[in-house]
Amino acid sequence: MNDPARFRADAVAAIRRDVPGKAIVAASGGIDSTVAALLTQEALGDRARTVFVDTGLLREGEVDRVREQFGASRLHFQVAPAADRFLGALAGVTDPEEKRRRIGATFIRLFEEEADRFGTDRLVQGTIAPDWIESGGQLRDTIKTHHNVGGVPADSRLTLVEPLRDLYKDEVRALAAHLGVPRSDRQPFPGPGLAVRVIGPVTPERVAVARRANAIVEEEVDRAITAGRLPRPWQYFAVLLPVRSVGVTGDNRIHGETVSVRVVDSIDAMTATATALPTDLVRTITERITRDLTGAVTRVVLDVTDKPPATIEWE
Ligand code: XMP
Repeated sequence: MNDPARFRADAVAAIRRDVPGKAIVAASGGIDSTVAALLTQEALGDRARTVFVDTGLLREGEVDRVREQFGASRLHFQVAPAADRFLGALAGVTDPEEKRRRIGATFIRLFEEEADRFGTDRLVQGTIAPDWIESGGQLRDTIKTHHNVGGVPADSRLTLVEPLRDLYKDEVRALAAHLGVPRSDRQPFPGPGLAVRVIGPVTPERVAVARRANAIVEEEVDRAITAGRLPRPWQYFAVLLPVRSVGVTGDNRIHGETVSVRVVDSIDAMTATATALPTDLVRTITERITRDLTGAVTRVVLDVTDKPPATIEWE
């Protein structure tokens, strides 16, 4: 994509061609699906409805943030509350690929119901190139099943429309800026949400721990960025690991889990470098996580692995 205006006009024409009636758009609040929703609404007007699912796997304050953002972009949207459904689907599952499949299937069933209600069988998604490249198939290896690719069941009655299929993240960002999406430097957040940042069983309690740890990393890194101590990294987050170690608070022995802090620089997420962080920033993050999550987390570690050989998320 060299020219966002040209891409926009072509995409709007393609959506009109692919959607004879109405369509719903699956929106995560992330940049890819927001851009897809705006293009779809531009193409279809009232025949488009954006659906944002509250999976219970979102970051702190995210539902409110997305409501505000969609409101400001004048999207016709609705919020579908579905935390119990997603946590139910994930109960007892530890295999990362199985988590992704279940999340994908839960999303699709939910969108089928919403599509029925709205009177359509077209589902627009913000799938971008790395999603399907890494999901494998044909000659490619499956690196990970992105929820919006491998999670779509073969028997789904929905027809997918994917206007951003050929774009990479940096191109989507350029398009978002062109469309006037506020904060298009927002860091990526995976569609399966905190489920990919909770290694091992996904329980409401462990999701709450990961949610708080992620918020602390974001707050502290944002503070350092605002103070001019760090250029904005590509992504900065926390992962909850099912590894227990002994800790002490006062006279008490505790046996909590481990949080890994991950901060990376990247251009397009296909490769990434671990960001060198000021030592006092790492200490502040560690102190806040262990203090706010006393009992649940006894140890914080810093991940300094590049991609490759690691991926950005931990799974
Ligand atoms: P990995 O972990 O594969 O991540 O190096 C590359 C980039 O993609 C994000 N990511 C996802 N984004 N759906 C998404 O929309 C997903 O299922 C998904 N999994 C990973 C990840 O946060 C990183 O920016």
